[in-house]
Amino acid sequence: MVKTFIITGASRGLGAAIAKQCLQKSDHCILLSRTAHPEMVEIADQFGTKLTFISVDLNEIEQLTSLVNKILEEVDEKSEIYFVNNAGVIEPIKPVGNLGQESLETSLRVNFMAPVVLADAFVKRTKHWDRKKVMVNISSGAAKNPYHGWAAYCSTKAGLEMFTRVAGLEQDKVPFPMTLISFSPGVMDTGMQETIRSANEQDFSDREKFHGYKEKGTLRSPEFVAEKLLELLEVDELENGKFYDIKSLL
Ligand SMILES: NC(=O)c1ccc[n+]([C@@H]2O[C@H](COP(=O)([O-])OP(=O)(O)OC[C@H]3O[C@@H](n4cnc5c(N)ncnc54)[C@H](OP(=O)(O)O)[C@@H]3O)[C@@H](O)[C@H]2O)c1
Repeated sequence: MVKTFIITGASRGLGAAIAKQCLQKSDHCILLSRTAHPEMVEIADQFGTKLTFISVDLNEIEQLTSLVNKILEEVDEKSEIYFVNNAGVIEPIKPVGNLGQESLETSLRVNFMAPVVLADAFVKRTKHWDRKKVMVNISSGAAKNPYHGWAAYCSTKAGLEMFTRVAGLEQDKVPFPMTLISFSPGVMDTGMQETIRSANEQDFSDREKFHGYKEKGTLRSPEFVAEKLLELLEVDELENGKFYDIKSLL
């Protein structure tokens, strides 16, 4: 069966690691982010995989309907679909009272509105497709636990996790369901962790703990995490709506 991966935030960090592995294992990768990763074309050529890059700013939510149209124009009608909503932003890292509307809106749009609107449109537009359709919403321990200074990030990840649970419950009752899961990747050595470490102590009281993760080498590589996620997606019986934590897959 032809496999198509659609990955948001594929230019850096976890998204880029997933994309590189998918380019080696699947038939078609549709990568979405504001900037393109320079190595993807070369990997696609090397493995004979079709690559489509769509430049998009997920903060501009009014573009999402046309984005869905563009993606669906690219998808092979007979292909299995794996859609990874991975793009995310940690900022604003500030206590409540100092969040600021602009930064808050970006967090809500990129971390919550974009994956939810994309999921809604995809479920609708593929409801008659009788084949494997999986959507992975990249989550975080912050969806379940409060962190000082992370009100926006924790709330958007918690919201997305609940959305995934409800959508999974609903999809279990339709003839050709999409499987929607949350996947918590744990702490990884990416640009997002650099941003976390650069926050100041007043804004983020766990700052030293996160410096410690880097110094002690406890951050996982995004490549390792991507491998675990792709292994999980090979499983036939994914539980619809479930929160999968990397710690239970090690
Ligand atoms: N790193 C961790 O320790 C950790 C832990 C738990 C969960 N997570 C989650 O894992 C996912 C990936 O995180 P990461 O650490 O790989 O982050 P990262 O290194 O900061 O990369 C973020 C990705 O999101 C894209 N992105 C950000 N804003 C965007 C926008 N407005 N429009 C389109 N794309 C946008 C970026 O692409 P462009 O800049 O090119 O647009 C980039 O490819 C996120 O959902 C994050 O919340 C990370």
